[in-house]
Amino acid sequence: MEPHMRLPLAILYLVLIVSAQKNRTFTFPQGFLFGAGTSAYQTEGAHDVDGKGQSIWDTHTHEHPDRIADGSNGDDAAKSYYKYKEDIEAVKEMGMQIYRFSISWPRIMPLGLPNIINQKGIDHYNSVINEVLSNNLIPMATIYHWDLPQHLQDLGGFANDDIIIYYEAYAKVIFENFGDRVKWWCTINEPYYQAFGYEGTLFAPGLNSTGIGGYLAAHNMIKAHARVYHLYEKQYRSKQKGRISLNMPIDWPAPRDKTSTQDQEAAKIELEFSLGWFAHPIYSKEGDYPQVMKDRISNFSLAAGFPFSRLPSFTSAEVEYIRGTADYFALNQYGSKHVAKGEQGPDPSFDRDSGVVMTGNKKWPSSRTSKWETITPKGLRDIIAWIRKEYGEEWEILITENGFADGGQLNDTLRVGYLATYMTDMLKAIYIDKCKVIGYIVWSLIDSFEWMSGYTSTFGLYQVDFKDPERKRTPKQSAYFMANITKTREIPSFYAIVTNKLDKLEGL
Ligand code: NOJ
Repeated sequence: MEPHMRLPLAILYLVLIVSAQKNRTFTFPQGFLFGAGTSAYQTEGAHDVDGKGQSIWDTHTHEHPDRIADGSNGDDAAKSYYKYKEDIEAVKEMGMQIYRFSISWPRIMPLGLPNIINQKGIDHYNSVINEVLSNNLIPMATIYHWDLPQHLQDLGGFANDDIIIYYEAYAKVIFENFGDRVKWWCTINEPYYQAFGYEGTLFAPGLNSTGIGGYLAAHNMIKAHARVYHLYEKQYRSKQKGRISLNMPIDWPAPRDKTSTQDQEAAKIELEFSLGWFAHPIYSKEGDYPQVMKDRISNFSLAAGFPFSRLPSFTSAEVEYIRGTADYFALNQYGSKHVAKGEQGPDPSFDRDSGVVMTGNKKWPSSRTSKWETITPKGLRDIIAWIRKEYGEEWEILITENGFADGGQLNDTLRVGYLATYMTDMLKAIYIDKCKVIGYIVWSLIDSFEWMSGYTSTFGLYQVDFKDPERKRTPKQSAYFMANITKTREIPSFYAIVTNKLDKLEGL
């Protein structure tokens, strides 16, 4: 080669490599799964129909409408109990593969007890699952998404460790009846927020047992999850060949002042108190609660005159029993927050124990209807990388929830931008950070009852007209956008620029 050609050719070569790399970043890997999700209480309605028993969310919303932004409830919700075929059709229309839904425990066991099974409940979920399969979709079922039978709550709910055998008996009925067709399982959705139903009043059962109830409930949820994992392992896995996990939520905690070592430490503590609380016992090599939780809660407890730590402890046999009880990492991720060291909340409380205070950042764009939700896609990439670093590269991560809240309008440009930029950063986690992310499930398929926000803040790709007795569903702009993504398996390159801008937001 002529010497004067060497440099231009080298430059051309470099440009080709860089642009190939760039393109790859915006193309989804082969076999990558897309889906959309819902949960029973948020969508089904039919709260007292066909033998369903009362759940803690029925009680919470009926007795405390003041705790729900618009005083509403899920009595009728989106009427998916009747309209599930349309919902499933919508998943198919968008070219997705997975439909994630949850099974209502009180619909299967009205009192939560295994001696009384409601056949109509079993029939209903059989119809749902069969409909999913006949549309060539994959059913992913959440066994428990916060709607505990009220009767079990009357006995203490998750604060009573007998819940473990009742939950196991319920899960057995689920595997027996549906495990021949369902291969993706989530045992418990976001145990962190379920625990907050014991810690505070925002979520059912709203016990407000600060600094005590949440830890007890979490402890029993972790044990109940492990018990059901082992049940599946022993009795069902060889025949049914499914995969089990539990969904963990986490908002990325960024130090309020990056240069402050105190704030950096607060961010680390927050990661352990929110995600590590549940993930460390299951995914880490050594198991058990994160050391920082054990130390802080024990110190505060003893100093306040408790003869033991308010954080219950696992025996070493239990640590071993719980460790590794997941087949994939199910991650629910939405936003980011600023954290700093500080004291807040009553004494004792989870907040005091963590010693972390949280603030939003007014400079970060956020949802108008759910202020906690920032549009900070880098948080998703960062948490995926943190999980890989903390628990090992062997875990496959499935994003089981990511989505955006607004007022339900059809022209949901912000949601489109949110989804596109989060998926872009997720692809960076895959291609640049070498993380194993195997799928992305949008929350949610349709507008639905958003817990304490009622119907004031909704996440649907499809709008639901809650004033219409028929609950008409209409695809939003974001539904068309997702259909295009699943068809092209690429994110339009324009969003790369937007994502880069968002990733550089001050303070992230
Ligand atoms: C997590 C929960 O699993 C889901 O029920 C809820 O609607 C979304 N986050 C949005 O807040």
